[in-house]
Amino acid sequence: LPQHRQNRPAEAEDPAGEPIELPTYPEGIPAFVNEPDTDVALPVNQQWARDITARAADPAWLSRQPTPLNLEYDDVDDLVAVARDAGEQWAARPAAERAEILYRAADLMNARRGHLLTVAAAEVGKSLEQTDPEVSEAIDFARYYAHSALALEEVEHAEFTPDRVVLVTPPWNFPLAIPFGSTVSALAAGAAVIHKPSKPTPRCSMALLEILWEAGVPREVLHGIYPDEREVGKKLVSHDDVDRVILTGASETAAMFRSWKPELQINAETSGKNALVVTPAADRDLAVADLVKSAFGHAGQKCSAASLGILVGSVYHSERFRRQLVDAASSLVIDWPTNLKASMGPLTEQPSEKLHRALTTLEPDETWLLEPRQLDDTGRLWSPGIKEGVKPGSFFHLTEVFGPVLGLMRAKDLDEAIELQNAVDFGLTGGIHSLDPEEVRSWVDRVEVGNAYVNRGITGAIVQRQSFGGWKQSSVGLGSKAGGPNYVMLFGQWNDDPQLS
Ligand code: ALA
Repeated sequence: LPQHRQNRPAEAEDPAGEPIELPTYPEGIPAFVNEPDTDVALPVNQQWARDITARAADPAWLSRQPTPLNLEYDDVDDLVAVARDAGEQWAARPAAERAEILYRAADLMNARRGHLLTVAAAEVGKSLEQTDPEVSEAIDFARYYAHSALALEEVEHAEFTPDRVVLVTPPWNFPLAIPFGSTVSALAAGAAVIHKPSKPTPRCSMALLEILWEAGVPREVLHGIYPDEREVGKKLVSHDDVDRVILTGASETAAMFRSWKPELQINAETSGKNALVVTPAADRDLAVADLVKSAFGHAGQKCSAASLGILVGSVYHSERFRRQLVDAASSLVIDWPTNLKASMGPLTEQPSEKLHRALTTLEPDETWLLEPRQLDDTGRLWSPGIKEGVKPGSFFHLTEVFGPVLGLMRAKDLDEAIELQNAVDFGLTGGIHSLDPEEVRSWVDRVEVGNAYVNRGITGAIVQRQSFGGWKQSSVGLGSKAGGPNYVMLFGQWNDDPQLS
């Protein structure tokens, strides 16, 4: 994997005023390599990080950042008609041109990294530690899908007709990587995109769209539409000329979209209720670190987060393991992103009803190993909670809560652990910590999740290395996974079975 970036240059407050010389790729685009993150602890990057947090703390700075109002086409039919024509022209361009534009967008993302981090910190309080890897992932998506666009053109004996208009409806929890990744996947395939930001993050989306326009995606091919009104969403989702929807969000939202248009082509990554299994054969120190990182990173607001720790046999009863877990969670510094030492930030919004229940209530037989506390009167800053004694079939076993609470469950052996893990309706991520290869094999063969991780945390999939997508109720529509080899080829129709070279 790439090393951390050594030096981030200072960036202007208003990036639009800063001309940037972008590379061109006369010899074609280079081979795909994952983009490195920034190490904010390095002295050379600290001024860069301080500039970001100082700007983000100023409410006037955020109010100057634009949101994607589509004033020209505020009527949905006009908007879709423009996108449809433009989509046809976009698809007719050689894939190499689309690929070069996506590579240029990736270069711009790097040049504007600080700006993107500032918007995310100011708009939803997401920390640099969490958003810097999002920018790297977004860059990876653009470059990886640029290669997919070229690969599509090389397929022999089968012809691909891309969707013409794709509606992208991203989530708020990854306000940079997922909106950008979804958009560039459809653009790579040759479709026009209507991008409808999530309610809390229109400015993050706008910063991303501006980068794509500046890189050379025509305005008519890529549209942003806001505010987030249900009527507009309904009209777009059910529109005859919108060929596909890419959704990352709740499974209820996917069901609502389907109710609006039963024949909808949808590629949806929906909810998760993810568990990490720790067996007596685990490296327990590593398991503690991975549990804490996976459960409490971004305050647990990841579809991939570890919400359950399933502890097998002696691990559940180990006083040392519990103490380590509580010590590790208690050592997190919880604060707003203006504090660069913070390791866990605020919730994006006040807790939902489900999360509030998980944070403040114990179900029968549960006890707090570490009780969460509300830390200020915004209602958004909470310390992490760990509850033990979570019972099979209980509220916390089966319900996605999307926040900083980890529930511990006991399993007498690996078979029971897998049973508990597979009992949930979702199947997004899951992990095992065990140094016994037979145990690991047995778990991998039976666990019902899209992303099964061994001896690693269960968040932070890396493009090309761990393509990302779920099973069961964590996925609706297309089966293929984001950041993987077959993703872009699904955005359209084939006249025969494609055999990719
Ligand atoms: N792709 C994100 C992760 O893996 C959701 O954590």
